[in-house]
Amino acid sequence: MEKITLHHLQTMKESGERITMLTAYDYPTALLLDQSEIEVILVGDSLGMVVHGFENTLPVTMDMMVMHCQAVRRGVKRAFLIGDMPFMSYQVSIEEAKRNAARLVAEGGMDAVKLEGGRPVVETVRALVEIGIAVQGHIGLTPQSVGQLGGFKVQGRTVEAARRLLDDAKALEAAGAFSLVLEAIPARLAEWITRSIHIPTFGIGAGAGCSGQVLVTHDVLGLFDRFTPKFVKPYANLSQTMRTAFEGYKQDVKAGTFPAEEHTFTISDDVWQAIERDQDDKGD
Ligand code: KIV
Repeated sequence: MEKITLHHLQTMKESGERITMLTAYDYPTALLLDQSEIEVILVGDSLGMVVHGFENTLPVTMDMMVMHCQAVRRGVKRAFLIGDMPFMSYQVSIEEAKRNAARLVAEGGMDAVKLEGGRPVVETVRALVEIGIAVQGHIGLTPQSVGQLGGFKVQGRTVEAARRLLDDAKALEAAGAFSLVLEAIPARLAEWITRSIHIPTFGIGAGAGCSGQVLVTHDVLGLFDRFTPKFVKPYANLSQTMRTAFEGYKQDVKAGTFPAEEHTFTISDDVWQAIERDQDDKGD
């Protein structure tokens, strides 16, 4: 099984083969995604919401990211692995950004890091690329700026906003980003951006004209029912499957039908009689 590299991703964009990317935050999910030959796995800071139950991604820390990256790394042999830089891990200074990105790569075992923003983060992207760290950009709806954006809203719907996003995409490419996530922007704009730059784009709520697609795995599995954005297609209803399993277990335990014979360990009659004799001898 050949390891997916930056070279593969670039070649896929050039040949028009669409690239698949999903998120993982733990070992078993990473293992299953890799067995399913998903090409890119993102340890996204969305874990703050779908695993840790926060309202948004802002409380996620570097230590949380490193721990989840390590768990995912252990499950993956083939996929290209990207670790998300959490809020305030790259905004304060380029020095801090370098140190934190290096942690995701060195301690977390990631092949690349992702950070949100357009031209304001271009110098940071350039600095990380210069020290040998592969960087994925993320523009459009950038969840770490949810307060400033006024909620999880579609971006790039005016002439100025669309032009800004195209300029951001070109600036990130020029700074050395190897790919971009385009989140919640009109499909025509995403296709235009994808045609205007050489590096692959990964759309999430950005239509089918991107080089690849990304979704949050909990949304794909129907495992996060607080809200489902319009751009999500659930491929399973694991919430229901899990509830049914938990309720079945509860019923069986209450009824005394679990554990049954086949879940139970035995001891030979000889040994058991010896134990009973031993107890009797002690007068217990
Ligand atoms: O954190 C995340 O999972 C992401 C994807 C939605 C692209 O940034």
